[in-house]
Amino acid sequence: MSKDKPEIISDIYSYLKFYNDYKNYPVYANEVKQTDTSFDFQENIAGKPDSIIAGEKQVYEKPVYEMKKANEDIVVEKPVSIYSPREDFSHCDSLDKFYEEIKDCRKCSHLAETRNNLVFGYGNPAAEIVVVGEAPGAEEDKQGKPFVGRAGKLLTDILKAIEFDREDVFICNILKCRPPENRNPLPGEIMNCEPYLFKQLELIKPKMILALGTFAGQTLLKSKEPLGKLRGSFHEYNGIKLLVTYHPAALLRNPNWKKPTWEDVKLFRKEFDSMKK
Ligand code: URA
Repeated sequence: MSKDKPEIISDIYSYLKFYNDYKNYPVYANEVKQTDTSFDFQENIAGKPDSIIAGEKQVYEKPVYEMKKANEDIVVEKPVSIYSPREDFSHCDSLDKFYEEIKDCRKCSHLAETRNNLVFGYGNPAAEIVVVGEAPGAEEDKQGKPFVGRAGKLLTDILKAIEFDREDVFICNILKCRPPENRNPLPGEIMNCEPYLFKQLELIKPKMILALGTFAGQTLLKSKEPLGKLRGSFHEYNGIKLLVTYHPAALLRNPNWKKPTWEDVKLFRKEFDSMKK
C-alpha cells in the first residue's frame, strides 16, 4: 500500500459517516414552472382562498464518492474535499475579518471554479434578524450579493410586508457559492459550507432567524423533517428563535404557498414584537 492510502481510507470513512447522516435529505423535485412574473405579495395572499400545501416529493442524493475495488486497491473516482473538523475561526471577531478568511475558499473546488463571486451575505452586522436562504443564483453570483434576483425582490416585499427593511436585517445562504444551473446543494457542499453560516450567526448574535426553504431549515435544525412539518411554529437554534417558511423561489413556482408563508411571517413579526416588550 502506498503511503497516502490510509488517508484516502479515512476520507472515505468520514464521507460514509456524513452520507449516512445526510442521505435522507429531501430536495425539491417536480419543479413547477413559473408563470406569473409580477405580483404584490400581500395582495395575492390576501386574495387567495385557503391554499393546499402541495406535498414535497423526496429524492435522494447519490453518494459523492463512488468506490470500486481494483486489484485489491480502493479507488476514489471522484475526489471531493472533506470538511475538516479542525477548522478554527476563533481569531475572527468580526464579519469583515471572517469574510477575509473565507473569501478564497476552495473546499468545493468545482464550485470555486465556476463562481464569479463568493456570496458571503449582506446587511447589518448587528442585525436582530438573520434571513437564511439556500444558495446564490446567477444574479447573486454576478453581483456578489444574496437575494438580488427575482426571488430576492419577492423576499424584499415579504420583509416589507412585515415591516422589516432589508438593510436592517442580515441576509445570507447555506452555500456561499452558486451551484451550476442552480441545482440543489449537495450534501458534501452543505457540509463544507455550513461552518461559515454557523460562524456568521455566532458573530451576529441575532434575536431571531428566518430560514427560507427546506435546505436552510434542515441544515440549521439538523433535521430531516420535510418543510411542511418544520414550518408553522418556532424552533431554536443555539437559543435563538428560528422559524422556517417557504423559499421565495418556491412561491414563484407555486403561488398556493403564499398564504401559509404569510401566516408564518406574521407569526415571526408577532414574536419579534413580543420579544421587544
Ligand atoms: N435563492 C437563495 O436561496 N439565495 C439567494 O441568494 C438567491 C436565491
